[in-house]
Amino acid sequence: MAELGASVIGLGMMGLRHGRVWAELGNTRLAAVYDIIPEKAQDMAAEYGCVAASSLEEAIGAEGVDIVSVCTDDQAHVEACTLAAKAGKHVLVEKPLAIDVADCDAIIGAAESNGVRLMVGHVARFDPRYQVAKAALDEGRVGDIVHIYGRRNNILASGRRIGPRTSVAYFLGVHDLDIMRWYIGCEAVRVYAESCRKVLTEEGADDTIFTLLKYENDAVGCLETCWIVPEGQPNTLDARMEVVGTKGRVAVRAGDNEPLEVSDAERSWRPDIAYGPILAGQQGGALKCQLDHFARCITEDKEFLISPQDAKAAVVLASAIHQSLETGAPVNVSQ
Ligand SMILES: NC(=O)c1ccc[n+]([C@@H]2O[C@H](COP(=O)([O-])OP(=O)(O)OC[C@H]3O[C@@H](n4cnc5c(N)ncnc54)[C@H](O)[C@@H]3O)[C@@H](O)[C@H]2O)c1
Repeated sequence: MAELGASVIGLGMMGLRHGRVWAELGNTRLAAVYDIIPEKAQDMAAEYGCVAASSLEEAIGAEGVDIVSVCTDDQAHVEACTLAAKAGKHVLVEKPLAIDVADCDAIIGAAESNGVRLMVGHVARFDPRYQVAKAALDEGRVGDIVHIYGRRNNILASGRRIGPRTSVAYFLGVHDLDIMRWYIGCEAVRVYAESCRKVLTEEGADDTIFTLLKYENDAVGCLETCWIVPEGQPNTLDARMEVVGTKGRVAVRAGDNEPLEVSDAERSWRPDIAYGPILAGQQGGALKCQLDHFARCITEDKEFLISPQDAKAAVVLASAIHQSLETGAPVNVSQ
């Protein structure tokens, strides 16, 4: 398999991880990195021996770059993705595709018109727990889905860090809006949301949003998203997905039931072992699986597990959630 050269744009929590995986995978290498904070690019380039670009254009156009990982703040996805597509580079962009439906269309249009592949990092699709649950649904064990419940609750550090830039619906909710749609196999037609803001007032963000969804097949969905749970809880993420159908039930529990617990005199915690653990000295888990899948689908010319339209559908629903919060009424949705 030909080796792909990767450029990573945005070197925060996610960009560092993408860069590490591109450097560690057997079929890719890290060619260039860029961040609006130049020291971040210089530090990473020194660690991996790649180009520290001083502009977006330089990072995308650096020698040997075939694929571009866009790991900037959500608001900056559209510029980096469209520039990369216009330069003929395949794009892997972190979720959400964008925080505006028009930006989603701009990114998808740029990829299509320039003949490049586009995948959005909805990492839950690569989490073995959510994948095996999908297989059980596909085997017909649940029958016709009647209801689907998703939860994605994160610690307050997340709300404090990301709250000033976006909302919990875009940051956490899109993961489950996508998984719920993937499982149920049809579109949501109506969305109604309620929120509460008591902790993240200075950040200007809702602490929690609860959403009810009605789907084309008459099933009901309920999504709980919160990013103010206390730092002392044993896991940073408490995520669930429960599906009840005419014949059975499938329940995913991610986080709160991790089969590993570490304790000291003050508290216990359950380290992540599915999403991004370091295994045998390398970045492992669902994140690595996602990046490996992206690279392999490009070199082997195969379909991605998630299409750009799937990722856009999650953004359409997140934006309907905000419309419902603004109007206080259910919002009819058409994809
Ligand atoms: N898949 C997941 O599980 C997951 C988890 C967390 C975040 N995310 C997503 O990943 C993306 C990055 O999140 P993060 O947590 O790494 O944020 P972060 O704040 O840690 O990092 C963002 C980085 O992008 C840089 N940046 C901002 N604008 C830029 C621009 N125009 N050009 C170049 N660099 C720019 C910032 O300086 C910063 O270093 C977001 O879209 C976020 O929603 C995904």
